[in-house]
Amino acid sequence: MAKLKTSFVCQQCGASAAKWLGRCPDCDSWNSLVEENAPPSGSGRQLSSIGANVRPLRYPDVDTDDEMRSASGIPEFDRVLGGGIVSGSLVLIGGDPGIGKSTLLLQVAAAHPGKVLYVSGEESERQIKLRGERLGVESSSLLLYTETQLERIVDELRSSKPSLVILDSVQTVFSSKFSSSPGSISQVREVTAELLYFAKSTSTPVFLIGHVNKEGNLAGPKALEHMVDTVLYFEGDGSHAHRVVRAVKNRYGAAGELGVFEMTSTGLEPVDNPSGLFLSERPENASGSVVVCSLEGTRPLLLEIQTLTSTSSFGYPRRVALGVDPARVSLLLAVLEKRAGLSLAGEDVYVNVAGGMNVSEPASDVGLVASMASSFRGQPLDSDTVFIGEVGLSGEVRRAQQVPLRVKEIARLGFGRALIPAGNLPLDDPPKGVELIPLRNVSELMELIF
Ligand code: TYD
Ligand code: MG
Repeated sequence: MAKLKTSFVCQQCGASAAKWLGRCPDCDSWNSLVEENAPPSGSGRQLSSIGANVRPLRYPDVDTDDEMRSASGIPEFDRVLGGGIVSGSLVLIGGDPGIGKSTLLLQVAAAHPGKVLYVSGEESERQIKLRGERLGVESSSLLLYTETQLERIVDELRSSKPSLVILDSVQTVFSSKFSSSPGSISQVREVTAELLYFAKSTSTPVFLIGHVNKEGNLAGPKALEHMVDTVLYFEGDGSHAHRVVRAVKNRYGAAGELGVFEMTSTGLEPVDNPSGLFLSERPENASGSVVVCSLEGTRPLLLEIQTLTSTSSFGYPRRVALGVDPARVSLLLAVLEKRAGLSLAGEDVYVNVAGGMNVSEPASDVGLVASMASSFRGQPLDSDTVFIGEVGLSGEVRRAQQVPLRVKEIARLGFGRALIPAGNLPLDDPPKGVELIPLRNVSELMELIF
């Protein structure tokens, strides 16, 4: 009998080694190598025929006419996908347990006009139907299939020819080619590759649900995210009713695009006015509270940043940042110290973005600076003003992208004033009702707000 070949595969990055090692030589993670059987030789798929042809094709001859998007029936979800479900696309949806992944995809399945195959390795048909009843699902073209063996799933897909496939979740399915347990990197990769091949060769859109690990990454992060066309993440925590779905990677649309939903007793409801939602609990006349306009994908969002500073009672002041990059906060504190003469070195600084949101855009720097200065001085800022602009190390305010789009959102929410980088002004067609004030540097900002 031939000796079984085994190798040790890193569950983080997929690198393999001939013997066990405590630390992966590729990605340096500790204790991540697991013994796995090498797949039998000759089991590789013919991934070469992902497209319609196996011969090289002249560029002008490639047919793009029947592209290939269909509305999902949930506009907020279409928005995240870049305008609808693309046929033949493989979409991975990740998020914490209980955040609403199964709920969202069951709603997508119910809204889909054609035949949907919902494969679940986590819940029984009964459980899924009970959830469906809460959501008011009555679709007769929805097939539920509780199976975890990949080969049987693929056979079923080939014979029942659905027009949309949902797999909940990729970590529960296993291929009998490998002896490692479901969820290990070779299994997850095999499942994804097999479904990728199915999606591309039959032009069927496939949604995969993926679990995240302790660090908040999808299990087998790199391996999976490279293989699929689109990666969506449920962001935020379960402690708020709203859920944010963000496109982290999208071959068919803008990355960073987000959709905002609210978890209700009858499922996820799209939020029509997210800026309004995030500003709804803004305190009046509180120092340290400012409104910034952050661009998420193609959507401008108004968010509230709050800062609290207080004299530190320890030698080493605390800097806590939730929803903004802590490095950014330290950098801007140094700019304030040096360019605006505020002595913040002995202050504890706490920064938070209201509603559990994340602001990663540098265009919210001016707002952050204003918020920190306001809290330090104990002076509330004009609550009718929105701040836009990136701050450089010499205290200069730099241009932001897509200012007209942001100003439109500011006008729509009824704000009267916006501080804008001078380099972005004048705007071609400024909306009425918003006073646009040019801003060159941080000292000008201080004069304007105090
Ligand atoms: P679920 O979609 O099962 O989460 P995931 O698949 O990401 O693990 O969502 C479960 C949570 O959503 C659960 O805590 C209950 C809540 N929920 C509602 O509040 N309303 C609803 O209509 C449904 C179906 C679930
Ligand atoms: Mg689930």
